[in-house]
Amino acid sequence: SEIEGAVETVCGRHGNTPSELIEILHDLQDMLGYVPESALPVLAKKLNLSRAEVHGVVSFYHDFRHNPAGRVTVKICSAEACQSMGALPLIEEFCRRNGVTMGETKGDGSLTVEPVYCLGNCALSPAAEVNGRPMARVDAAKLDAAVKEALV
Ligand code: FES
Repeated sequence: SEIEGAVETVCGRHGNTPSELIEILHDLQDMLGYVPESALPVLAKKLNLSRAEVHGVVSFYHDFRHNPAGRVTVKICSAEACQSMGALPLIEEFCRRNGVTMGETKGDGSLTVEPVYCLGNCALSPAAEVNGRPMARVDAAKLDAAVKEALV
């Protein structure tokens, strides 16, 4: 399958080295856009790790997506400086307006909202990223407009 092939390619690039599991997962996500559940047993076998070990790493880190992302990915910072500027109510409002849950993709595949912990733009908080484009001092309306623009 495509997924097995991708796992083999990526593991091969890392010499099937178990200690490079995190890098391997990142590469796999770059290649497929997410880390599919069905890749995990293949990975475990290739790297000679237990399935539980692989599962543990994938679920511990927030970096890995378990489903394909939507056409637009919005990351909203929820670290301290942004929280002090209202990031949490902002996230709530944005998600409610768009009918999506933090960390998930909307049913129609248009939008994914992901948490992120400091975008290095604390002076201009709350900070966000829309399809990789940094945005400063955002509010729900600004985010809505950026999403609309990205969907065109
Ligand atoms: Fe949000 Fe640093 S805390 S950008």
